[in-house]
Amino acid sequence: MNIAYFCSMKYFCLIGLLLVIISCAKLQTTKTKIELPIISTKVDLGKQLFFDPILSKDKSISCGSCHQPQFAYADNKAFSLGVNNGVALRNTPSVMNMAFRSFFFHDGRVTSLEEQAIVPIENPVEMNLSFEVAVKRVNKKKKYVQWFADIYQATPNANNITNALAAFQRSLESDGSAPHDLWLNDIDTNALSASQQRGHAIFIADESKCFECHFGPDFTGDEFRNIGLYDGITLVDKGRYEVSKDTADLGKFKVPSLRNVALTAPYMHNGMLKTLEEVVDFYSNPYDFVKTPINIDTLMLEPLHFSEQEKEDLVNFLHSLTDKHIPFR
Ligand code: HEC
Ligand code: HEC
Repeated sequence: MNIAYFCSMKYFCLIGLLLVIISCAKLQTTKTKIELPIISTKVDLGKQLFFDPILSKDKSISCGSCHQPQFAYADNKAFSLGVNNGVALRNTPSVMNMAFRSFFFHDGRVTSLEEQAIVPIENPVEMNLSFEVAVKRVNKKKKYVQWFADIYQATPNANNITNALAAFQRSLESDGSAPHDLWLNDIDTNALSASQQRGHAIFIADESKCFECHFGPDFTGDEFRNIGLYDGITLVDKGRYEVSKDTADLGKFKVPSLRNVALTAPYMHNGMLKTLEEVVDFYSNPYDFVKTPINIDTLMLEPLHFSEQEKEDLVNFLHSLTDKHIPFR
């Protein structure tokens, strides 16, 4: 092989190699461009944090591991699993329709979403990370530093991190697409079946009492009530009493919103009722489930004894509260 030929071969190879490197680099940049979403609002930024496992000790669990879009931001287990298979102490509620709530958690122990966000991060059976370390971790990620600078004109800190998480959750409002809303607002008079319309009538009737506790646009008045799920024997969660230490609050829990309730089984603070059918059986006669409830609400004292048809209608009605569009589902 003559020298000139060898050199041209060598340069040819080198040029080839360079071309390969350049195109790989191009691919790389386009790839990172696709991966990095455009983050221009507090809501976008909060969404990134909500689904980011770096907020848990071993980086395995995000808020979204327990509050899953497919279950209307609740979980499908009685008790969600946190880091190292830690077991949450209560059933995971949906975090949709939080914008107008005045209390958070089943016992209402915090009163703002900002304050709330720190609790699961530090909770040993949930994310088990000191909030201080969480803030440090967010500061170590270049993308977050850039996003926080753009949106909050500050480095990530306790205030803006919790505010972004809260902003994302406040954006998760039902959008009026549930059959119940379409029907009630005369947008689609056929949106409810005959059975669902009968169920609606039962739900708002004085005799059934549902509407006395589940009222307002989100089917909750944000009060604490005792429906008979505390007996001090096997059902020992004292609910609101843990916060107020007032015996009048024994066994009271926050009345939950019923929006998207068909997606959030199992039910109640302890997930003891597996289906909506079981919930309606419970309201038909609470004593079939709990023999000797303590401090049960006067509204619940007398069993309602629904007929089989009424039960079916009520369950069908509860299904009409499911939104057609759940964000990021
Ligand atoms: C391991 C599962 C788990 C993780 C992870 C988790 N949560 Fe929760 N979340 C729960 C449980 C369980 C409750 C109810 C606890 C209680 O009432 O004592 C709850 C309650 C809430 C509530 C109150 C809802 C209401 O109806 O009052 C909000 C808001 C919330 N979580 C947001 C978050 C945010 C934000 C994160 C991430 C920083 C997060 N959660 C991480 C399980 C989890
Ligand atoms: C005295 C007030 C009160 C009345 C009356 C009442 N509820 Fe409730 N409801 C509550 C409370 C409080 C809870 C939550 C209890 C818990 O977490 O342990 C609840 C929970 C529920 C749940 C489960 C929600 C979830 O996400 O776990 C459904 C469904 C429900 N109620 C439907 C009804 C229906 C249907 C009626 C009428 C037959 C009714 N409720 C009557 C206070 C009431």
